[in-house]
Amino acid sequence: MLPLDQVRRSLESAGQSHVLQFWPELCEEERDGLLQELSQLDLEGLREHCEGAARAAASPSVRVDQYMEPVPPESVGSVRKSEPDRLSAWESEGLLQISQSRVGVLLLAGGQGTRLGVQYPKGMYDVGLPSGKTLYQIQAERIHKVQELADQKHGSKCTVPWFIMTSEFTLAPTEKFFKENNYFGLEPSNIVMFEQRMIPAVTFDGKVILQGKGKIAMAPDGNGGLYQALVDNKVLEDMKKRGVEYLHVYCVDNILVKMADPVFMGFCLSKGADCGAKVVAKAYPAEPVGVICRLRGITQVVEYSEILPETAELRGSDGELIYSTGNICNHFFTRAFLNDVAKKFKGKLKQHVAIKKVPFVDSEGNQVTPTKPNGIKMEKFVFDVFPFSRNFVAFEVERQDEFSPLKNAAGAATDTPTTARSSLLAQHYRWATAAGGKLLDQHGNPLPHTASVSAGDTPPSQCEISPLVSYFGEGLEQLLRGRTLPSPFILDEKRAKELQSQ
Ligand code: UTP
Repeated sequence: MLPLDQVRRSLESAGQSHVLQFWPELCEEERDGLLQELSQLDLEGLREHCEGAARAAASPSVRVDQYMEPVPPESVGSVRKSEPDRLSAWESEGLLQISQSRVGVLLLAGGQGTRLGVQYPKGMYDVGLPSGKTLYQIQAERIHKVQELADQKHGSKCTVPWFIMTSEFTLAPTEKFFKENNYFGLEPSNIVMFEQRMIPAVTFDGKVILQGKGKIAMAPDGNGGLYQALVDNKVLEDMKKRGVEYLHVYCVDNILVKMADPVFMGFCLSKGADCGAKVVAKAYPAEPVGVICRLRGITQVVEYSEILPETAELRGSDGELIYSTGNICNHFFTRAFLNDVAKKFKGKLKQHVAIKKVPFVDSEGNQVTPTKPNGIKMEKFVFDVFPFSRNFVAFEVERQDEFSPLKNAAGAATDTPTTARSSLLAQHYRWATAAGGKLLDQHGNPLPHTASVSAGDTPPSQCEISPLVSYFGEGLEQLLRGRTLPSPFILDEKRAKELQSQ
């Protein structure tokens, strides 16, 4: 902990003396807490952080249309447009690497999930599946299964380590939850949790916001805080020790995430990529998702607000949108690339401005809950390392199979617990019928054998298949062909064994 005098001087020279305004009123414990918080801040960089935030929030957003071009076709792969042989060759390569324990997964779970509005980490959320599984459990089971698939194919005993980036908000409850659930059967030493940094929220005139008389309003530094957090916590060294060469990075909220996806891994490896991203075709030109493209020849993500509607609507000779590569926060990185980022580029990441309502204490000491946005949170984004890649590739996947994020609370128009649940159940319905199962509704009437139940639809039956039984629809035919399946149909390991022995 730094001495008070030193902190006071640093705050003065950063133009932030108000942070200690209520010091005389604080009790011993509050003083210790505040001093502790201030000691962890980069006080030298505080002036630049505060003034930079105010400047960035005041500057108008720049349109970039004139410099834009799509990612060149030779750097783009697609599930939809590839022959089955191609896909299975990529999958084989991915499984081979997994079997050699060269692949790890990295979960971005430091966000506050403010839109969802729960007081606990999003990964602990139960979207209301028949099994009651949380997002964390689903993900843990996918790791299990992908390890098993690789081992079965190659006679190995591999590990896909799970690196989990948390923040001050999510670390303790996540650790507790994993412990209480016995790490969902995974080996605890193969789960590495680490914490990203927090930075102060700032007013529009560049002043650190006090959330309480002895507490600064802090927020995680965005999912692009990953790169600093990897260094702070020596995670790259850990990966090296484990022999992990390739990493699949993903967000906690996508219920359909295909962790360590062997097809994606294999595709990126076949292209010799150092950095890759899964994309989905935009649903409609004005869909508010970031688009991966090139700006003056450099790969990056452009937000919908940064381009004109006419650019978003441009179509090629095949009728498809030219800027259709919607970013879904599913990335491939080589460890070598991450080392480069850590050594050379992490300080060069762009800062993004998020304008938020931040509860604060006014100069008279009154607690205020603002009704309109009053604060700036600066964030870095995980995709802002794309410009530093030497060989970037994009891989288009089917939205209904791979992307359904949980962002909003029930009642919102999109990305709610209901849409997440429906997406997963619809996918499992498609898998079960494709495998030859005959599903019944809850009254025992046969349901249509249809492969077209898609993410937005309410699935016709409650059909849930445990990731421990099938990772991505494989292995179901031998269990389900010709069988009549009453609703709700939950295919867990126990049920799979029963079906196998019948
Ligand atoms: P979002 O941008 O959707 O943020 O994060 P969020 O915190 O989940 O939700 P809101 O915006 O407060 O409602 C996308 C992914 O990035 C992670 C999140 O945990 C999620 O997996 N993230 C976000 C971090 O790991 N750190 C951050 O600082 C921010």
